[in-house]
Amino acid sequence: MPAISASAPGKIILFGEHAVVYNRPAIAVPVLQVSAHATIVADPLAPPHTVWIEAPMIGLTSRLEDLDPEHPIRVIFRLVMEKLNISHFPSAKVKLTSTIPIASGLGSSSATSVALTRVISTFLGRPFPDEAVNQVAFETEKIHHGHPSGIDNTVTTFARPIYYVKDQPMRWLTVGEPLVLVIGDSGEASSTAAVVSDLRQRWSQAPEAYEPLFDRVGEVAVRAREAIDHGDLAETGRLMSQNHALLQELDVSSNKLDQLVLAAMKAGALGAKMSGGGRGGNMIALAQNENEAVEIAGTLEAAGAVHALVTTVPTSGGKP
Ligand code: PMV
Repeated sequence: MPAISASAPGKIILFGEHAVVYNRPAIAVPVLQVSAHATIVADPLAPPHTVWIEAPMIGLTSRLEDLDPEHPIRVIFRLVMEKLNISHFPSAKVKLTSTIPIASGLGSSSATSVALTRVISTFLGRPFPDEAVNQVAFETEKIHHGHPSGIDNTVTTFARPIYYVKDQPMRWLTVGEPLVLVIGDSGEASSTAAVVSDLRQRWSQAPEAYEPLFDRVGEVAVRAREAIDHGDLAETGRLMSQNHALLQELDVSSNKLDQLVLAAMKAGALGAKMSGGGRGGNMIALAQNENEAVEIAGTLEAAGAVHALVTTVPTSGGKP
């Protein structure tokens, strides 16, 4: 049997992170320049039911059965096999690679889960439709994140801009004008799970302080959806900056992220904000066009970003 491969893109959250965990709307887009890749090939010479996993980006080479039962990779195998009613996996070699920086808000864990789920189910002769892939990736996110909203796995699975409300059917986002984004990596590694759980603790102690902030983030996301749909870049940028201010109030930003946001604005961005779990990871800025984006990227690197990437979300017409 020839090798089977699949990949899934990175992603970035444009609006609504954190509040989305509390059922407010959020907007996310795929980042196609970076991706996770999975390959599986049968290993007929290996002892029965021996699966070797190689994932150089996390320094992992191991037999599947030697991984902790709660290791995300092992969980993915279990979930796929359960869905297909298969109790023994044929001997195989799996390789996972990724160009998505880890722990930086670009969705590396989701993309890896999606790519792996696709190759395993295809290898077993029953390629999962996207909905089933999304479900497996969501279950796996729960291990990484504790209380994920499901936005990461959804945008990564479907690889299209989405408007997302937890526990509601996903909606595509229509984009009236291309969004030229600069993604600046603060270089500060940050655990989304830790930030989400810290916020959850503060919220559970004083919901009256946090619920109105979540409401305001949700309102920004609703208005952003309209602005993006109408191709109103100036308004989209303003809303990004408003969202950043609310994330600062939620205390999930960091000095470095705030500095990078400020530097992007000084360099002419239409708006800028941290993106994802925060307290490190990435920030994003909306540029007028690609030339400006390249300038903003240079400014961000001069201001201390370890890396800046320009990505464009193209216009779209399709509604689901
Ligand atoms: O850190 P990221 O990019 O994986 O984003 C997490 C987004 C949160 O809203 C903070 C958590 C979630 O599950 O939605």
